Amino acid sequence: MKVFYFTATGNSLDIAKRFGGELYSIPKVLKGNQFHFEDEKIGLVFPCYGFAAPNIVREFIEKVTLKSPYIFVIMTYGNKLAGGVNWLVRFAKQNSIDIHYADGLLMIDNYLPIFDINKQKLKEKNTERNLSRLLNDVNQGKRFIRKKTFSDSLLTKGVQYFYKKNPNFNTDKDFSVGAECNQCGTCVKVCPRDNIKLNNKPVYGGNCEFCLACINLCPQKAIRLKKESNPNARFRNENITLKEIIAANE
Ligand SMILES: Cc1cc2nc3c(=O)[nH]c(=O)nc-3n(C[C@H](O)[C@H](O)[C@H](O)COP(=O)(O)O)c2cc1C
Repeated sequence: MKVFYFTATGNSLDIAKRFGGELYSIPKVLKGNQFHFEDEKIGLVFPCYGFAAPNIVREFIEKVTLKSPYIFVIMTYGNKLAGGVNWLVRFAKQNSIDIHYADGLLMIDNYLPIFDINKQKLKEKNTERNLSRLLNDVNQGKRFIRKKTFSDSLLTKGVQYFYKKNPNFNTDKDFSVGAECNQCGTCVKVCPRDNIKLNNKPVYGGNCEFCLACINLCPQKAIRLKKESNPNARFRNENITLKEIIAANE
């Protein structure tokens, strides 16, 4: 089994690892030169962004060919998935990838503009219980696509339309670097887009995934958002090391 993943703060890597199999980082695959993969089972694990998939995952789906009798998708999310899974299944189909199993998994929400990580950590999300169901299903090769309601579809369509019409929403122009920065370079290493250079302090190049890895993982908490819920609260999944995220995204 091959499991492809994208992660900013470790949730999706934590889940990808639990499925076992060979792990492939999506940003690394995109930087390489092999785009055809085959296996008896193939998995995709990544976070939900804006009730749909991150741009880097879309690029991956557009670029690769996947040959397998069983392809599963797990979208980690922190609050509301809306029609995210269904959006992905359709997008994959348009790119000649048939998904046989697709579901979401509720975890801590790392979207700092809205959520206070300290409060998120206190919420009961039943992640382990839900994960064991997903693991069982995939082990048994169950076929299932998460159901969506009419309002789920509307939410996904609405937010995706908003993103399209507002290209300046959620960009690296929203970030500022404080005097606490000691030029350790962690931000450069965790950026999946190679969008950050160190020039006394981090300088952003305008090709931002808005995954917030640089902000959440800065050891000095020196990088901030113009608008955020709690500038002192930052997140990394407790089962995943900074080294693993660097290895995935560098
Ligand atoms: C730009 C952005 C958009 C997000 N959009 C959603 C969303 O639409 N719904 C949701 O429930 N969580 C959303 N989240 C939260 C993440 O999906 C969630 O925290 C995920 O588990 C993070 O995975 P990671 O640790 O592997 O990066 C968003 C996070 C970011 C950074």
